[in-house]
Amino acid sequence: MFAPLNPPLPAWPDARVWIVGASTGIGAETAKLMLTLGARVALSARSAEKLSSVAGDALAAGRAIVEPLDFTDASAVDAAWTRIVAAWGSVDLVLIVAGTHEEMRAWELTGTKARALLETNLHGVIGTVAAVVPTLLAQKQGAIGIVASVAGYGGLPKALIYGASKAALINFTETLYLDLHGRGLGVYLVNPGFVRTPLTARNDFPMPYLIDADRAAQEIVAGLERGEFEIHFPKAFSRKLKLLRLLPYRWYFAAIRRSTGL
Ligand SMILES: NC(=O)c1ccc[n+]([C@@H]2O[C@H](COP(=O)([O-])OP(=O)(O)OC[C@H]3O[C@@H](n4cnc5c(N)ncnc54)[C@H](OP(=O)(O)O)[C@@H]3O)[C@@H](O)[C@H]2O)c1
Repeated sequence: MFAPLNPPLPAWPDARVWIVGASTGIGAETAKLMLTLGARVALSARSAEKLSSVAGDALAAGRAIVEPLDFTDASAVDAAWTRIVAAWGSVDLVLIVAGTHEEMRAWELTGTKARALLETNLHGVIGTVAAVVPTLLAQKQGAIGIVASVAGYGGLPKALIYGASKAALINFTETLYLDLHGRGLGVYLVNPGFVRTPLTARNDFPMPYLIDADRAAQEIVAGLERGEFEIHFPKAFSRKLKLLRLLPYRWYFAAIRRSTGL
C-alpha cells in the first residue's frame, strides 16, 4: 500500500555488507544467513578466531573478509573501513550490531560503570557511523543499519543505563534517516525483543517471547528486503511494548511493575 521507506538494497548475491559485532549472537547469525544467501560479508568484532569460524568456507572462497577491531577505537574503525572499501570498491550496507549489557538499578549506579556501557553502546556506534557516512555520501548509495532494542522504547527496571543507551540510539537513527534519506541513503533501525545469545545468558529472570538468534537474523534480513525503517520483532512482544509506551505514565509504571514484579 505504502512505498518502502528505504531505497532497495541490491539482491543478496550482489550485496556487500559490513557487520560490526559479527562474532557471536545476532550479528554472527545474520552474517551466516547473508553469506548463505550469497552476499559478500566483512565481519568485525574483537575476537578474531570467532569471526573466522563464523565466516567459515566463505573466507577461503573470497566472499568474506575478517577485520578484527574494537569499534570504540576510531582509528581501528577507519583503517578497517578503508581496507574493506578498497577490497570491494564500495559497500552496500553497514550493519552495526555490536553492543553490551549490564544490569543496573539506581542503587548500583556509578559514573564509571555508566560511562563504560555508553562508550560501547552509544559512542562505539556513533563513531562507526561517523567513519562510514562520508564514503556513503560520496558514492550516493548504500545503507546503515543500527541495532538498538525494544528496551529503548521506555524505562524498564534493571536497564538503567542500557535502556538509556538504546533510547539514544533510536533517536540517533531516526535523525540519521531524516538527514540521509534525501541524499539517497538507506537507514534501518533494528529493535529486537529478547534473543537467546551470550548477552542474555546472564539474565536471571524469565524472558518473555524469547527467540533464537537465527530467527532474529531471519527477521533482520526480511525487514531489510522489505525496506522497512524499523525492523522490530518478535511482533507479539514489540507491539505490546509500543502500545504500553502510549499510556499515561501512571498506567505505564503500573503495567511495568505488574509484569516484572519489580
Ligand atoms: N539478545 C537480546 O535479547 C537483545 C535484545 C535487544 C537488543 N540486542 C542488541 O543486539 C546486539 C547484539 O547482541 P547479542 O545479544 O547478539 O549479544 P552478543 O552475542 O554478546 O554479541 C555482541 C557482539 O558485539 C561485539 N562487541 C561487543 N563489544 C565490542 C567492541 N567494543 N568492539 C567490537 N565488537 C564488540 C561482540 O564481539 P566481541 O566480544 O568479539 O568483540 C559480539 O560480536 C547488541 O547491541 C544488543 O544490545 C540484543
